[in-house]
Amino acid sequence: MLESLGGLKRTHSCGDLRPENLGQEVVLMGWVQRTRDHGGLIFVDLRDREGITQVVFNPEIQPDVHTKAHVLRDEWVIAVRGVVQLRPPDMVNPQLATGEIEVLAEELRLLNKAKTPPFELEDYRVDISEALRLKYRYLDLRRPMVMRHILFRHRAAQVTREYLNRQGFIEVETPILTRSTPEGARDYLVPSRLNPGHFYALPQSPQLFKQLLMMAGLERYYQLCRCFRDEDLRADRQPEFTQIDLEMSFVTEEDIFRVVEGLMAALFQELLGVKLQVPFPRLTYQECLERFGLERPEVRFGLELRDLTDLAREAEFRQFREVVERGGQVKALCGPGLAKLSRKELDDLIALAGVYGARGMAWVKIQANGWQSPLAKYFPEGVKEAINSRLGAKEGDLLLFVADEPLVASSSLGHIRLHLGHREGLIPQDTYSLVWVTEFPLLEYDPEERRHVAVHHPFTAPWEEDIPLLDTDPGKVRARAYDLVLNGQEIGGGSIRNHRREVQDKVFQVLGLSREEAEEKFGFLLEALEYGAPPHGGVAFGFDRLVAILCGAKSIREVIAFPKTQKASCPVTRAPAKVEAEQLLELGLRLEK
Ligand code: AMO
Repeated sequence: MLESLGGLKRTHSCGDLRPENLGQEVVLMGWVQRTRDHGGLIFVDLRDREGITQVVFNPEIQPDVHTKAHVLRDEWVIAVRGVVQLRPPDMVNPQLATGEIEVLAEELRLLNKAKTPPFELEDYRVDISEALRLKYRYLDLRRPMVMRHILFRHRAAQVTREYLNRQGFIEVETPILTRSTPEGARDYLVPSRLNPGHFYALPQSPQLFKQLLMMAGLERYYQLCRCFRDEDLRADRQPEFTQIDLEMSFVTEEDIFRVVEGLMAALFQELLGVKLQVPFPRLTYQECLERFGLERPEVRFGLELRDLTDLAREAEFRQFREVVERGGQVKALCGPGLAKLSRKELDDLIALAGVYGARGMAWVKIQANGWQSPLAKYFPEGVKEAINSRLGAKEGDLLLFVADEPLVASSSLGHIRLHLGHREGLIPQDTYSLVWVTEFPLLEYDPEERRHVAVHHPFTAPWEEDIPLLDTDPGKVRARAYDLVLNGQEIGGGSIRNHRREVQDKVFQVLGLSREEAEEKFGFLLEALEYGAPPHGGVAFGFDRLVAILCGAKSIREVIAFPKTQKASCPVTRAPAKVEAEQLLELGLRLEK
């Protein structure tokens, strides 16, 4: 007979009991992880959110209870009353927090039965397909390893809230049904029944609301908020994700850095016991591209890029010269000891550089008798020596060169650098490096749209001294923006905002937004700027990304309770789904296909 709680009251969790509890009568409730029938004794691993405890059924002590235990199956839900006893020394399990004790059962209540799960709910089962895991996510979450991620995330949220509360931040919720905020992705739209033909957009971030909260005089705002972006998905992107979002008034970059460094220090200390060095190092955007090729530098290993454009001019190699004459760059890196790579391995590297946009990649192996390379004959000895010395090359090393437009040369070689770093095991594991990236350009030219677009978002303030350049050379204007990079991943970004209307108007104008368009889309913000907007700025962190890195998860899906698939669908509920014709009618919508 199934019983609701069988008159029992839970006294401990399955992760609680230790030798100190010896002799205590306890009541545990949970799921049967596994049963083992050793002739006489039956052992049941009982699992709940907090851990696993071994329960023993002994036919000589409680024959009725033992008989009942015979029928238990995996994932049945039970309550057990029993007494804590020490395990015999040879049965101690050092892998389990409760591994020194077991509970000798005196009473067993069956609270519910379970069908055989579609996969084994054991941690060691890593071969289950993700599709199946996500379809039965409520079962997958029962696995201790997966549950641990969710508990870890909860603690990360608590530490964040506690820290920000201590710093005088106020938690405010902002609307989900709102207008589009330009963060660079497509919007998710929601039709309005009461306003046919009109749509809400789900927020890509609370950017405009948090600025309005500063104008409202809130001074320090934060929120663990959900953001929605309809973009192509990767391991570190979800269509809906969570940000730690914050905004502050009467501050400069330095104040924001100090708050964020304190927040990161608290998270690392509380969650990992790691003491971070503050302040974090800062690199300019330009320096990141020059040295690491990417705007999110992985600084935990060397293999830095060098610019060889000047030396390439002195060589007879036509491809390099042409690129240089067109304003391109020749960049290179030196892989220590990598002259051992085979022709096939080199070809694979060249193909990889191609994936990142490079039209080619040249190589040189440094041998005892000098350069071994298809390029060797084009380079005078003096130039070869100058290149070797700039790259610190020695015998046995491999030099890789990309000649291309500056951004392509940097970023393709930057990706090759990362690839080699991983492949050759050059990146120290279990170490953390946080770096601020500063001095981003405010705008970049988009050749497809044939206009400048905002690198961060259009509310970012330009450097005061660069404002005149908005008229003359907009591409050169620096933004008061910053990103925080953790182990080569962008975990957050923000900026000081435009709080004076005339500057915001100017930026919109340079972005090609007419007065009418700006008024139509952001009139409410522009108007608010006229009612005494304080200087303000802020930042937002990808909470899922941060948690995933902190708990060593491969993908942010691992730290989200119900993540979406690569096709942005929810495997549990099978959203998105078709709707009734009547619902469409009510919304004034008709489907074309
Ligand atoms: P931004 O667009 O840089 O800034 O976003 C901040 C951080 O959010 C994370 N992130 C994502 N995480 C998971 N899935 C996604 N699809 C995704 N997109 C972004 C990244 C990123 O660094 N309003 C501004 C912040 C500000 O200016 O204060 C904003 O949203 O870790």
